[in-house]
Amino acid sequence: MYKICIKNITSGLFTNQHITVCGWVKTRRDSKVGISFLNINDGSCISNLQVIIKNNIKNYSEILKLTSGCSVQVNGLIIKSPKNKQGYEMQAMSVLVTGWVDNPRNYPISAKLHSLEYLRKFAHLRVRTNLFSAIIRIRSTVFTAIHNFMNKNNFILVTTPIITSIDTEGCSTMFNILTNNKKFFNKKYFLTVSGQLNIESYACALSKVYTFGPVFRAEKSDTSRHLAEFWMVEPEIAFANLQNIIDLTEDMLKYIFKRVLDERIQDVEFCVKYNNKNLIRRLNNFINNGFVRISYDEAVKILEKYKNKFNKQIVWGYDFSLEHENYLTNEYFKNIVAITNYPKNIKAFYMRVNTDNKTVAAMDVIAQDVGEIAGGSQREERLNKLDICLKEKNLSIKNYWWYRDLRKYGTVPHAGFGIGLERLILYITGMYNIRDVIPFPRGIYDDINF
Ligand code: 4AD
Ligand code: MG
Repeated sequence: MYKICIKNITSGLFTNQHITVCGWVKTRRDSKVGISFLNINDGSCISNLQVIIKNNIKNYSEILKLTSGCSVQVNGLIIKSPKNKQGYEMQAMSVLVTGWVDNPRNYPISAKLHSLEYLRKFAHLRVRTNLFSAIIRIRSTVFTAIHNFMNKNNFILVTTPIITSIDTEGCSTMFNILTNNKKFFNKKYFLTVSGQLNIESYACALSKVYTFGPVFRAEKSDTSRHLAEFWMVEPEIAFANLQNIIDLTEDMLKYIFKRVLDERIQDVEFCVKYNNKNLIRRLNNFINNGFVRISYDEAVKILEKYKNKFNKQIVWGYDFSLEHENYLTNEYFKNIVAITNYPKNIKAFYMRVNTDNKTVAAMDVIAQDVGEIAGGSQREERLNKLDICLKEKNLSIKNYWWYRDLRKYGTVPHAGFGIGLERLILYITGMYNIRDVIPFPRGIYDDINF
């Protein structure tokens, strides 16, 4: 007798076989003729398995007490559903109740629909809802797809440290590490904001590398798009320029979207229903056409034409705000947009200065509703120019000594980028708040007890 996951039953592999299924009760219905119907779910897919239980099983009186959330182990025969041609159901031979719900009226995740705000208070239970389980399965596929894509393209996975003494982005607010309120080994240490600087050193020997881990930012940005702890994948390539990483970002996104549609279509369809959005068309459109590519200058020109639509002015030399980005993605291009060659003064010290000496070889990828999902650049590989940038940004040349070494010993044009995983998942699922696409969100106002 095998323990089988519901996902495999729905694919028809176990028809007319006796198997065991374990899961949690979603609903129970009893007919007048002594038959009960349980819908159970084990999280392997969004579909429930309908289990038909006749009153001749020995613990039938227990079955009549089952409520949403109880855990059960059911043994029985899988048959094609007579009502639903595509579906399967189980005729139970025995049902073992492994866990009761203490007080069903107080069960926080009852069958009725709850608001997302309410569910955030039950971060430990919300994954029992269809919506959150769908999001988490999509998230899992995105992570796997990224590793598969990198591996297929000969990228080497390098793990970079989380404890660090330098600020990758140059001016981030970082979490300090203290031990019993004292400095760790008497030095200033932080949680990393990005693995980029470390990964660059590995790119300058292994050519194509990536790091993929959690990163930490202590900004007080209480928005629907910012977390204090989020995941980022950062590819870095030697002998590469800005163009190469724009192409790579596009290929990578296409691959991820395709894998999600191939492997998690039911979950995406659920998100479509929940969020009432055109998600599948949007993803397919990207798979077929890729993103729009424009320069910062071109973006400014477009936005200036529509300036009366915005609260914030558009001035060359300043970053775009979300309303500008949303106008470009939602209204003007109706697509993801890769914007390149930003003014130097609004970007990080490591970005390669263009010949105009005003802009850098940077890329921001912005998506409908979500804003920036990826950011990257060609790196400044010329030591003298790097030193000027460090000075301009008031960063200590001494602290970046090993990063400078990479420019002294066989320097090479190289480029890389980072994709924010939660922002990407917002895009794929059409969810609004970034707290709802990560299992246990960490932000200033999140409940960190979980
Ligand atoms: O644009 P960012 O800051 O770029 C870097 O950290 C580079 N060092 C990456 C590289 O070139 N290797 O961050 C990258 C992405 C952003 O585009 C955004 O999607 C996401 O990370 N991101 C956040 N996601 C959630 N919460 C936050 N507070 C985020 N800040 C950035
Ligand atoms: Mg950025």
